[in-house]
Amino acid sequence: METGYEQIVTQLIPGYASLARLGVALLAASPRASAQGASVLVAGCGSGAELLEARAQRPDWQLTALDPSAAMLALARGRLAGQAGIDWQQASVESLEARARFDGALAVLVLQALPDDGSKLAFLTALARSLRPGGQVVLVDLMQPERSPIQQQLREARLGFQRASCLAADATVVDRGTLPIPGVDPVAKASLIADLTTGLHPIGLSRLTALVEAAGFGDPAPVFQALDVEGFLLQRRD
Ligand SMILES: C[S@@+](CC[C@H](N)C(=O)[O-])C[C@H]1O[C@@H](n2cnc3c(N)ncnc32)[C@H](O)[C@@H]1O
Repeated sequence: METGYEQIVTQLIPGYASLARLGVALLAASPRASAQGASVLVAGCGSGAELLEARAQRPDWQLTALDPSAAMLALARGRLAGQAGIDWQQASVESLEARARFDGALAVLVLQALPDDGSKLAFLTALARSLRPGGQVVLVDLMQPERSPIQQQLREARLGFQRASCLAADATVVDRGTLPIPGVDPVAKASLIADLTTGLHPIGLSRLTALVEAAGFGDPAPVFQALDVEGFLLQRRD
């Protein structure tokens, strides 16, 4: 069943409805995670979109569902109730022990919330260390288009997308309270919207490349884009 979070994030993030399906399909085709019974980390699993998709596409995967938020983990656990083979952990990626044990990982809309003050590098380094050599991560994040003549246009288009969804990031443009979401109280709804639209730290491709290389990955390979939301494949260097 769709949660209030799911409904809001779908209205705010261009392409969100396809991100989990694309991410899982990409990882399932990777050299390591294509193996039967591969061990896969869902980093920042939130309300469980990638977990549900992983269960549908690859019921053989051994999943580790990680999120520091008890509330988000509870949402995900509720949606995946009764599913075996999932190791639930309330923790951050940075707190994972430095043991290379995963064949692949998904990190969807997580890095964007971390400041580029060492926090992004710590997250990516922990992710790289948790993978077996050659393991891949599907990383999806809000990006800061750089040196692009269409940078401003992309940003305006994302805001237009959100306005069209009646959930503008700017409360002065659309009244966040006007469209109730069944099962979500207006205060919780406003707080969810604020979490997803404020305090984000998108970076450009050159900075992402420098960070992932320092963390132990090869160059990020772009795999999809919906306005300024971009997906990359990262492969841990051997
Ligand atoms: C915007 S949500 C995205 C959730 C899910 N991946 C999705 O696409 O719907 C970001 C999630 O990352 C989690 N998170 C934040 N910092 C994290 C960290 N350092 N390690 C793991 N998860 C983190 C948050 O608690 C939140 O549930």
